[in-house]
Amino acid sequence: MNRILSYTDKLWARPGDTVTVHASGDGVDEARVSLVRMICGDDSPKGPGYHEEATEAPEQTVPLVHQPVHAGSCIVADDSDPLGDLASFTAEITIWPTTPVSHEQALMGCWDAGSQSGWMLSIGHEGLALTTGDGSGTVSRTATKHLLTAREWYRIAASHDAESGTVQLLQQPLNPDGRADAERSLSGIHQTPPANADAPFLVGAAWGGPGNADGLKPVCCFNGKVEAPRLSDRPVDNLAGTLDAATCLLAWDFSRKIMSLSVEDVSGRGRHGRCLNLPTRAMTGANWTSDQHDWRHAPDEYGAIHLHDDDLGDAGWQPSASVTIPKGLRSGVYCIRLEGGGAEDAPPVVVQPAKGAATNPIAFLSSTATYQTYANMHHSTDDPGAEMRVASATVLSDDDLYLFEHRELGHSPYDTHSDGSGVSVASARRPMLGYRPKAGVWSFNADTHLTAWLDDKDFSWDAISDHALHEEGLDLLTPYKVVVTGAHPEYWSTPMWQAMTAYLRGGGRLMYMGGNGFYWRIAFHPDAPWALEIRRAQAGARYWIADAGEYHMAFSGEMGGLWQRVGIAPQKLVGIGTVATGFDSCSHYERLPDSFNGRASWIFDGVGPDEKIGDFGQLGGASGLELDWIDRSLGTPDHCLRLASSADHSTQYLQTVDTITFNHTAVAAPVNPAVRADMVFFETPNGGGVWSTGSIAWSTSLAWNGYDNNVARITGNVLHRFADETPLPPA
Ligand SMILES: [Fe+2]
Repeated sequence: MNRILSYTDKLWARPGDTVTVHASGDGVDEARVSLVRMICGDDSPKGPGYHEEATEAPEQTVPLVHQPVHAGSCIVADDSDPLGDLASFTAEITIWPTTPVSHEQALMGCWDAGSQSGWMLSIGHEGLALTTGDGSGTVSRTATKHLLTAREWYRIAASHDAESGTVQLLQQPLNPDGRADAERSLSGIHQTPPANADAPFLVGAAWGGPGNADGLKPVCCFNGKVEAPRLSDRPVDNLAGTLDAATCLLAWDFSRKIMSLSVEDVSGRGRHGRCLNLPTRAMTGANWTSDQHDWRHAPDEYGAIHLHDDDLGDAGWQPSASVTIPKGLRSGVYCIRLEGGGAEDAPPVVVQPAKGAATNPIAFLSSTATYQTYANMHHSTDDPGAEMRVASATVLSDDDLYLFEHRELGHSPYDTHSDGSGVSVASARRPMLGYRPKAGVWSFNADTHLTAWLDDKDFSWDAISDHALHEEGLDLLTPYKVVVTGAHPEYWSTPMWQAMTAYLRGGGRLMYMGGNGFYWRIAFHPDAPWALEIRRAQAGARYWIADAGEYHMAFSGEMGGLWQRVGIAPQKLVGIGTVATGFDSCSHYERLPDSFNGRASWIFDGVGPDEKIGDFGQLGGASGLELDWIDRSLGTPDHCLRLASSADHSTQYLQTVDTITFNHTAVAAPVNPAVRADMVFFETPNGGGVWSTGSIAWSTSLAWNGYDNNVARITGNVLHRFADETPLPPA
């Protein structure tokens, strides 16, 4: 099947900015490129109807070539001279392998896998092995023939004496309780010395040639943790003692510069390195005592990096097209459409107004961080519980099948790596399937229901993005009377949260249009802001659980996990927080006495006192998928009005694990009164206010009956009032 894959260098831009598109054609050799305003990206039969508009940005036709992706993380020396010519050496490294027998996995060396030259210390079906070659076609190899155990620490060492050809190997379990296997050591003679290697010095992979990703293609990628690699040019007869860093050509200490892409050489020779494809840092090392759980307090116990053979950072594709955002282009949600050979791709770009030039009272906050987190999710094909969770048979999309077959595109933080460990990093510098129009009613595509409604009702609005909010903070929000979120603003960084809190204190108004929002804390990488990190710590509805001692993010040092567990629950910000999920059907809301309170009754203008709210919509109702409720103990303000709550959810709706203290059989609707969405309103200082729907499904009911329905009416009532200059009177 012909296919175009692409990504952009920016997820948001301003008029005058140039967006670079990196694209690959599979059976497609050219593409027509155009910038389109995305009105509604949902092309499903029950949806409002796909709708995009052309822009004045000039169309262009560009050639496409197939651009491969080279996944697999490793660490590469900035300067490998003279390591590549080293014939005699001693090497050591501490490892915690996670798939020790899955395939040949390089631990360290200068090994050119193509010409079979240089040297490589590796593990695999023969246990620990040292391979040397000179590119002539013959190699020498010594192996312990003793398999390593997964998830046990080992000190690994090897020595090669070029004069005698003598090789020493050591495979030393470090587990102090003695349950790991016995120490293995052996010696051998290599007829073929390492020579003629054109490969850089790598930890965790061998050199597969000059690939795209950061200039090299990693092969023989290692799965597991690596710690303290050291390399000396002096062969030794006895490998029992650790190499003294001062005598080494290179001694990397991964407990330093954890928040960067760099690794530091402590040998004194300045032979530093860099991480390729975003492996996971701030990992507990072999010496972790459990006394400290924050790596910032005991960095020397966090000297490990977890490498994965399916990590992907910057795909590093050549640019295919440049699109300049026209100076007069109206702010909104746009896509760069690439079409050719019967295939298409359309990476979205949020076009914000020029800096400081916002003129509309309304800002739609596009949940770009959440879209990035959901991209390339393998849930449908990889999760054995997927059908149980949605209570229906899985229907695989073309994207699901493509991702299943093309693991090199990397995973989502909803997935696990090939070694079973959780995916904690998501890169935007790679094709992000799912973060597209025409991709199901979720994430980016679901939020076009809301923007389509804004346009249908002729609201004057700007679009802004999570990524810009993280970078620019409060300044981005202050021009607006009201900020409208998407249906699922789940992932928030600390700067984003702080900006929104300050905005509300200053009289801003917030419409929280969804559910399961403000849930997980994330961090963006200081040196690679196109990558974000999540640790699935402690609690939460999640598909993997971070290991003990690894709750703090490498990108920021902050404790990851739920905002609630950090002590800042979403209830403090928007009155409600996650309580239940269900995916088989949706239901409606019913008005509560607070909806008749004079402080909020205007929200229901035109809605009858006993009228069911949202008992219709593309998904069958306005309340569904993921639901939020009030919780005074978590910070719902005392003066918060509970206007309406949902009812009649199916038995597939369950209270979420993070809100249950002890399991019981009554976690499901309808017997569990906690399984409901609460619609709330409360005033904030200086004339501001918050209105929250509590349900991801809310916006999918907006278009019902030609946008003439009580969900659209209520939303419109709130938006008209919140966009008005007149301060909201205090409670
Ligand atoms: Fe979610």
